[in-house]
Amino acid sequence: MCGIVGYTGPREAGPILIEGLGRLEYRGYDSAGIALVDEEGALFVEKKAGKLVNLQAAIADRTPHASLGVAHTRWATHGRPNDLNAHPHQDCTGEITVVHNGIIENFRELRDELEARGHALRSETDTEALAHLVEDAYQGDLSAAVREALGRVEGAYALVVMHRGERSRLIGARHNVPLVVGLNGEESFLASDVAAILAHTDKVVFLQEGDIADVRPTGVTITSLTGEPLDRPVSTIDWTPEAAEKGGHATFMEKEIHEQPEALAQSLAGRVSPAGGVAAPELDEMADTFRRVTRVELVACGTAYYAAMVGAAALQEWTGLPSRVTVGSEFRYSPPPVDTNTLVVAVTQSGETADTIAPTRWAREQGCPIVAITNTVGSAITREADAVMFLQAGPEIAVAASKTFVTQVTTLVTLAATIAKARGAMAEAAELELGAALRHLPEAAARTLELAAHVPAMAQRYAGSRGFMFIGRGYSFPAALEGALKLKEVSYIHAEGYAAGELKHGPISLLDAECPLVAVATRSRVYDKLMSNVMEGRARDARVIAVATEGDEAIGRFADEVVFVPPTHEALSPVLAVIPLQLFAYHTALARGNDVDQPRNLAKSVTVE
Ligand code: AGP
Repeated sequence: MCGIVGYTGPREAGPILIEGLGRLEYRGYDSAGIALVDEEGALFVEKKAGKLVNLQAAIADRTPHASLGVAHTRWATHGRPNDLNAHPHQDCTGEITVVHNGIIENFRELRDELEARGHALRSETDTEALAHLVEDAYQGDLSAAVREALGRVEGAYALVVMHRGERSRLIGARHNVPLVVGLNGEESFLASDVAAILAHTDKVVFLQEGDIADVRPTGVTITSLTGEPLDRPVSTIDWTPEAAEKGGHATFMEKEIHEQPEALAQSLAGRVSPAGGVAAPELDEMADTFRRVTRVELVACGTAYYAAMVGAAALQEWTGLPSRVTVGSEFRYSPPPVDTNTLVVAVTQSGETADTIAPTRWAREQGCPIVAITNTVGSAITREADAVMFLQAGPEIAVAASKTFVTQVTTLVTLAATIAKARGAMAEAAELELGAALRHLPEAAARTLELAAHVPAMAQRYAGSRGFMFIGRGYSFPAALEGALKLKEVSYIHAEGYAAGELKHGPISLLDAECPLVAVATRSRVYDKLMSNVMEGRARDARVIAVATEGDEAIGRFADEVVFVPPTHEALSPVLAVIPLQLFAYHTALARGNDVDQPRNLAKSVTVE
């Protein structure tokens, strides 16, 4: 949930680390800190509560010349977000410095034990215990000391450790939290993800669970926790540094909403043939499994959960297999009955969400075949799966997901079609109809953005509303839920997402002139039913904002505001319907003066329970 970056090499470490932290702020931003070992071997540390700008102001004009350092941006788990609890943390001697992302679950015992042995711990964090454990274990070799210290630790971590006396060496360690090594000839990096170092190198090593990386300027040596040498491939990342920047937009969220046509095209590449055949080649080896499974359980959180709802509906409709989705935190402790014929599909943009990884791992232990759907190459979820479908959407920096929702939906729909075909359950005509709609989808998304040109003005008019009710039926229900989540996340206005038929069973009492009704009213088999629910809301004085299909001339009679989207396949309708809702949330948040890329209390990647 925090961001880590480390540097060793011939250049000035300070600016490189601060720039890297800027790219990682989406992972957490309640405090930031930096530690540098200067040319004389002296340690410089500065830590500041609040966003990175506070740290930048504190070190301006006094950053020492240094070629070794670590930096951290924090999202608090243990200890309040203040200067003292900000990372990096030191041991008693000030020789050892640690930055950490994750949670040390046995930190209380460790702290008590360390204090009983005379160590003075200054912060309230779990991380500081690590620095003191390394201090105890250090006998001239930092890597050996880190391995020994980690032998005492329970929990999840990505960490980087440096010693003031070992002036060109960083030790990185990973267990259930991401960490990558960047290599660039005479300089090396450690970072929570590639976005932090992409400006300097495209050569990275994705560390795996239990890896210890001994990083020197000219390369890295990787061992296991017990010291056995390990071979890890060097990957070349084809994301340009510009892909991780705002590309002319005011914010990452705006940029990512507008790059959805391109993200969809990229995501569908190789999955739809020019003739309209739908297939995911990365699932070829799973064909026998798809034929024998008897049910499908999907697991995901947040936006990914809503995308998975679309996937579950398509799977059930096209394969006839009972298919359902459960949020990861519920699946983990109240798992559904599974056996070796239960296909489990884990959906996670980051691939690092603890609530999604744990139930997936559990299902794997039960012998379930696993398909993971993620945007992140090398992420933890990929190691739990028999097959992985990558979203291929490029990095998503804004905390509020946008392009990863639409690519999750299309990837899940492709998976559903692939399984249906393997089982002989999808007629060729149905496949070709879906294939044609998928091929047209990037263009339809671009048209949707054009059709939504009036949404900013509309958001201004409604930004003072007390609350919002979003409704949908069938495939438009997950789009309504995602629209409500987007609005909550960035505007901080309360919004409910409901299956439209449920409105009359309770939530209709919330509706009045101050609580608009947002209806996802795209053409579908249940359009008329949805319209009846819209009329129920209108009768309670609610203003109605409708997302409708181009050519729907009747909608104007039911709605005060309409945003049209192009027609598409019903299972793909959430992809287009969500776009005006994302824009509505975005512009409402702007109208209220909020920080849309880093909304309060949130973090991009939730790697703790
Ligand atoms: C979406 O806007 C949120 N930031 C959040 O709900 C997110 O989708 C959820 O935490 C799951 O993340 P994942 O896809 O990386 O697993």
